[in-house]
Order: sequence, then C-alpha cells, then structure tokens
Amino acid sequence: MHDLTQCVHHPRVSTEGYESLAVPTYRASTIVYPDAKSFSNRSGRGFDGYTYGLHGTPTTRTLEAQLTLLHGGVRTALVPSGQAAAAMILLTFLMPGDRVLIPDNVYGPVRYFCNDYLKPRGIDHGVYDPMIGAGITGEIDARTKLVWIESPGSATMEVQDVPAIIAAAKSAGALVACDNTWASPLLFKPLAHGADFAVEALTKHIGGHSDLLLGSITFADIALRQQVKLVLRDMGIGVSPDEVALALRGIETMGVRLRHVGRVSERFAADLQSHPVVERVLHPALPSCPGHAFWKRDMAGSSGVFSLVLKPGAEANLERAMTELQIFAIGASWGGTRSLVATTAVKAERTVNPWTSEGTVLRVCIGLEDESDLWTDLTAMLGKLAV
Ligand SMILES: Cc1ncc(COP(=O)(O)O)c(C=O)c1O
Repeated sequence: MHDLTQCVHHPRVSTEGYESLAVPTYRASTIVYPDAKSFSNRSGRGFDGYTYGLHGTPTTRTLEAQLTLLHGGVRTALVPSGQAAAAMILLTFLMPGDRVLIPDNVYGPVRYFCNDYLKPRGIDHGVYDPMIGAGITGEIDARTKLVWIESPGSATMEVQDVPAIIAAAKSAGALVACDNTWASPLLFKPLAHGADFAVEALTKHIGGHSDLLLGSITFADIALRQQVKLVLRDMGIGVSPDEVALALRGIETMGVRLRHVGRVSERFAADLQSHPVVERVLHPALPSCPGHAFWKRDMAGSSGVFSLVLKPGAEANLERAMTELQIFAIGASWGGTRSLVATTAVKAERTVNPWTSEGTVLRVCIGLEDESDLWTDLTAMLGKLAV
C-alpha cells in the first residue's frame, strides 16, 4: 500500500479488553457495506440499522434508546432543537384542511409556527384555555387531528389536567403530543397517560450545561415513528453525534441536578410570596398555582423554573437592577448550571384568557450555584425595585 492510500486507510486495532464507561462518539456521513448486495438492500435495515450518517450512528442510537426507555415508548427520534421537534410533529401529521389545538400558554414559537407557516398552507389552529381539562371535547371538531399539550405552560406555569385532555382527545380520534420539557421524563411520563408523542427540548435539563441544542420525540406507536422517519429523510434533517455525546454526558447527572434545583426553586418560590415587590409567584408546587392539584397528583417533583409577577411600578428600576445582578445571568433557555432571569411578554402572547396583571413577569431558572449566594443576589435585585 502506498503512503497516500495508507493515509486514508486507518489500521484496524484490537478493542479486546477495552471497556469504557463513556459512549464513543461515532461520526459518519458515509456508511460502508460489506458487499454490493447489502448496499442495494440497505433500505431493509429498519429503524435500528445504519444506512447513512444523517439517519443515525451508534452514538445517536444510544441517546434515542435511553429516552425511549425513560419515557416507556417504542422509539425516539432526535432533531436539531426542541422547536424542531414540535415543528416536525405538526408538519408530519397535519394536512391541508386539518386543525390542531394548542394551549394559550404554549411555548411562543409553536404558536408562531401555527400562524406563520401552517395557516397560509391551509392548516388551521385553535387556542384553548390550559385549564380546560375534559372540556377540551367542546373544542374538538371533525378537522381536529392533533391536540398539543405543554404542562406546566411557558412563563405562567399552569399545570394541565393531562390525563383528562388525553382521554377526551383520544375518544375523538385525535393524536396527542405533550411538550414535557419542564418536567423531563424523570418527573412526568406523558406516554404512560396515553399521549402519542413525548416531546423534550434536550437543550434544557438533559443537555444541562447551556452548550447544545437538541430535541426529541418519543413515540408510543411504531407507525407514527415511521411517518416521522420519512419526513426527516425527505427534509434531510439529522443531528450531530458531537451534540448527542454532550447530551449523553448531561443525562447522567440530570437526576441529581433536577432534584437539587427543584428543591431550591420550591423554597425560593415559597419565600418570595411575601416579598414586598412580588404580586404573585407562579410555581406548580404552590397551592395558588392553577393546576397545583394536577401537579401533585401527576408529577414526581419540581424542576428549577418558575416565574414572578412583579407589582406594577417595579419595572421602573428593573433593567438597572437586573444588569447589576452578580450571580444570575440574564438570558433565555434554561436547565443549565447557571441561574438565569428573563422578562417575558405574557400579555402579548395570551389570546384566550387575556393576561390582566399589569406587572412584569420575570422568569427565574435556578442553577447549581450556592443557594445562599443566589438568594442574596435575587433579593438584592428585588430590593432595588421601588413600588
Ligand atoms: C417548553 C419549551 N419547549 C420547547 C422549547 C424549545 O427548545 P429549543 O430551544 O431547543 O428549540 C423551549 C425553549 O425555551 C421551551 O421552553
């Protein structure tokens, strides 16, 4: 073999005796086949086989299998972001003339996708009160093919009666997808309640370090997985094994991270209720939170994200006070090691139940810093807000 050929033919070395706890990062575009016949027959390799790097490597399959086990599903598809997971379900299962129901507190970009992309293509959407429960039956018509659930909802944290909504949707023949990002599969398992799709923004708790973007869809039924497989193939969508390797590292510590941030967020939420500039604390673990009883009944605990409704007038000094924070960072997304605060435009994003509070809604995400440092920083900021 000449040098140039040798350069591109890596020697095969023994792996005997090599047992690592880490999942190797397998990168590939090309997958090679042992003979021409197996190349011709590659489409028969099924969900778990390998045909082309875009459609999966052992690294991506490992995370898919892990999420499938955690959610109790049949398969999982990985996509480039949490929003891509939502878009993929909407694109795959809705046809012109169909309709989807989304909750009023849905993650904003899902509503934008319905308005900006689906609507001009003849796919309608209805927006429902997240506290509607079994009453969703009255919102479902013959065109309604999909009911979208997000619980607790973005920013305002209402916890939905997920089993009641799923039961009503199923009896009307509609599919149900549940954005489970706040809870993660450790705190809630939508498929166990009859949902067809469990959606996770892996960007948050599973990644856990604010350094990757990924999403997942875990399926209750293999036929649904097949439909998404074709759309992913046709659109040329896959994920990078390097991102997935980070997520595989992140998921190992998710349990201890979640338990910690959940406890801190519950303590902060309870104590902030009596703060002079706070009108309301929105946290599923508080009895005052809409749907608290459903959280208690259905979920195994809290994660680190909750919101504060500040008293009107507090906004006057808010920008300066936020900028002077020492430990909390200002930013969107959450589930990483760093604590975050972000203002959210709730009023503009609610159409079914107009948001009547005049005060700013501040989303708080608890990270892994020392609890007393966080409390000092947050209360120092709130102390600067005259009301
Ligand atoms: C509830 C929820 N779902 C989905 C997403 C989208 O995730 P990604 O940022 O990975 O697109 C977010 C992001 O903030 C979210 O909060």
